[in-house]
Amino acid sequence: MPIDFEGRTAIVTGAGGGLGRVYALELAKRGARVVINDLGGAVDGEGRSSTAAEKVCDEIEQNGGTALANSADVTNEAEVADMVQDAQSKFGRVDILINNAGILRDKSFHKMTMADWEKVVAVHLTGAAVCTRAVWPVMREQAYGRVVMTTSPSGLCGNFGQANYGAAKAGLWGLMNTLALEGAKYNIHTNCIAPTAVTRMTEELLDASSTQTLKPENVAPAVLFLCSDQAPNKIVIMAAGGSYSVAQLIETPGLHLPQEERTPEGIAARFERIRSLEGGYSSSSAFDHVANLLKAPRDE
Ligand code: NAI
Repeated sequence: MPIDFEGRTAIVTGAGGGLGRVYALELAKRGARVVINDLGGAVDGEGRSSTAAEKVCDEIEQNGGTALANSADVTNEAEVADMVQDAQSKFGRVDILINNAGILRDKSFHKMTMADWEKVVAVHLTGAAVCTRAVWPVMREQAYGRVVMTTSPSGLCGNFGQANYGAAKAGLWGLMNTLALEGAKYNIHTNCIAPTAVTRMTEELLDASSTQTLKPENVAPAVLFLCSDQAPNKIVIMAAGGSYSVAQLIETPGLHLPQEERTPEGIAARFERIRSLEGGYSSSSAFDHVANLLKAPRDE
């Protein structure tokens, strides 16, 4: 089935460049009206300009698409509320939100200031919560919504020098887990993308020879799938260089220990069996997890 976005309105945050720009162009090509949000600052979050958003908006309009430029700071509730209001008054609805805006302030943890911690967590995690809260009532009311959170291999696997960024990105995965449950009955599907692509954010981190392979255009198909009517719910797609995978939490079947063995030594003696992935499973919610864990095989 071809995937199109005719009649849909999408907000893409941080769409003035890099990955967000490509998502916006691809959505517009397939018929979506797109709000191009970007604060237009530097990679570390300093500065502000409306030029980045306006340029991408012009690009879409020159290609015959429909777009609206917006320079709201995703951490500012009032500016985000105005953005959503504008989208609704110009386009009538908001169907899709891609939380993509982001900054970097890399430092090893012992050198990181709390200001660097707070700024990175604010833009990625709080910014996504602010934007999602602003569209949530609209999506509930229309019984349709597609929300994409941008997590990262750094958040899911760890990356030296990115304690603030990795924590924020793992937080987005946690936010998705709950919003996917809360939104399901309103047909709001929330998923994550964990991209890898050469952009201004990563050009110094990734090998220059990978620019062609690791281009944002290779991530966009997964994001568009997550924005579509066919989107799953509560899924993390990892995308890099034309390869796509799903990341998920697998619990080991574990062991149920008799009372006298519930000691640190009892755990240490059985740790290889407790951690064995054989027969592993995923729980659909925190309560499902407890029910599953209480059924762990007995340590005979
Ligand atoms: P980028 O720097 O080109 O794009 C991020 C955009 O967000 C910028 O245009 C910036 O102006 C905007 N932005 C920053 N703070 C903002 C705020 N407060 N309000 C509104 N807009 C703001 O970088 P890239 O690589 O395109 O990143 C896009 C997203 O993908 C980010 O969330 C990033 O963390 C994530 N990501 C990127 C990876 C990569 O390999 N490029 C890897 C994993 C995640």
